[in-house]
Amino acid sequence: MATVLNPGSFDPIHLGHVDVIEQAVELFGHATVTVMHNLEKTGALFTVERRMELIRGALAEAGIGGEVDVTAFAGLAVHAAAAVGAAFIVKGLRTAADFEIEQQMALTNYSVTGMHTVYLPCRADRHYISSRFVREIARYGGSVSHMVPRCVADALREQFPPDDRP
Ligand code: PNS
Repeated sequence: MATVLNPGSFDPIHLGHVDVIEQAVELFGHATVTVMHNLEKTGALFTVERRMELIRGALAEAGIGGEVDVTAFAGLAVHAAAAVGAAFIVKGLRTAADFEIEQQMALTNYSVTGMHTVYLPCRADRHYISSRFVREIARYGGSVSHMVPRCVADALREQFPPDDRP
């Protein structure tokens, strides 16, 4: 089956990610969402297994669970793509700053194995959402329910109960 790889940290998945995955499914019919967990990135909020569970929950909420596989991979994104037989890598673009970083990664990845990257623009009303700010807002008791799927909002409430907040 043809698929495309959408790699990321997904710590946690938010509605901007969901929009990009929905677009990938609409355009290509199937997507593989892969939680990349390399040694360089430490201090994650959720374990890899929990992030995968939350991705599955988010995709079920969006009604596209059947068109998306969820995997985890430690290593290079191009190797993760090869491991699932992906035709190419799909990345979401939010800001101009994203473009600079994504362009460098895309060109580097192409230079390593000839794997192409396709950019999908995140829809305008979700442009501003980032996992980093979702974590920060939830940690200090702010509301993130408009930025994340319901299952993620529930998981963040469990992770940061009101009595434990700084
Ligand atoms: O959600 P993020 O943190 O923006 O995702 C970044 C990620 C994990 C997709 C990127 O860091 C990545 O592809 N890491 C895998 C390592 C790799 O392939 N390095 C070479 C990239 S040029």
